[in-house]
Amino acid sequence: MSSVTVSVPAKVNLQLAVGGVRPDGFHELVSVFHAVSLYDEVTVTPADRLSLTCEGEDIDEVPLDHGNLAARAAILLADRLGREPNVRIHIRKGIPVAGGMAGGSADAAATLLACDTLWRGDTPREMLRRLGAELGSDVPFSDLGGTAIGTGRGERLASVPTTARFHWVFALADGGLSTPAVYGECDRLREVAGVRVERPAPREELIAALRAGDAYALGAGLVNDLQPAALSLRPALAATLAAGMAAGAVGSLVSGSGPTCAFLAPDRDTAQVVAERLIESGTCRAARVAFGAVPGARVLPRRVVPVERENTV
Ligand code: C5P
Repeated sequence: MSSVTVSVPAKVNLQLAVGGVRPDGFHELVSVFHAVSLYDEVTVTPADRLSLTCEGEDIDEVPLDHGNLAARAAILLADRLGREPNVRIHIRKGIPVAGGMAGGSADAAATLLACDTLWRGDTPREMLRRLGAELGSDVPFSDLGGTAIGTGRGERLASVPTTARFHWVFALADGGLSTPAVYGECDRLREVAGVRVERPAPREELIAALRAGDAYALGAGLVNDLQPAALSLRPALAATLAAGMAAGAVGSLVSGSGPTCAFLAPDRDTAQVVAERLIESGTCRAARVAFGAVPGARVLPRRVVPVERENTV
């Protein structure tokens, strides 16, 4: 086999309920994950040694060393299969970098699946997800896709079957936000305010809205406990959220740890209008229209690269 390409979606958290800090330093979570149609593509090709290449917008913030979750995924799987991780990993970024949309986790999930396919590991998907959880809390969901409730530190998943399609707009910000920094700010704000941290639980109205395919009810139910922390670190996001709502969105929230802002639209045309108005408002760097839920990581059929022909008549 010469190479394998895997496509993997971004995620937005429809609900992110953050509980107390566990003994391992992670927060107890309830996260309603929703996979949306912004994709990274990861291609792995046999090579003499492990290497990484990357293409796309804003790739300066993507580490091209062992700090990259994709590289760590290849090393982890190779170790399990008792072989060397000798592949070239090429990442084509379509998911905002450091944007709170699980781009790094998506690349890790895609690399696990791509390498397992290339190396004919035949590792069951459930086992790949378990390996993924060792790399990051969001990696198992990037593999699963759809809509799912994550518990524990976000890695224990239960799918929420829904046939509805929801239309989203994502407002991209300049520069990323560090996930640990946002969790840290969340803890700090809670301590300052003397907030008693509740045990996180899924919102029933939100799950009912998902099942019913009711965008208005879903929009009203969106909630992210990390939002005050993201806004505290990046106050300008408040203007982005307001601009999207003024443009016709039926719900908004900061995506994960941010700084990407997510807007739910009642239909595709409105999503387009919201995206245009957001750009006109000058409160974001770019806007992307997407829909959800979409499936998780999947191997793409091999691309046949057309042979270029030239002929002087
Ligand atoms: O698991 P992941 O690598 O995505 O987590 C990144 C960081 O986010 C962790 O190092 C931790 O600071 C924070 N985090 C957390 N509780 C979680 C998930 C992530 O505190 N449940």
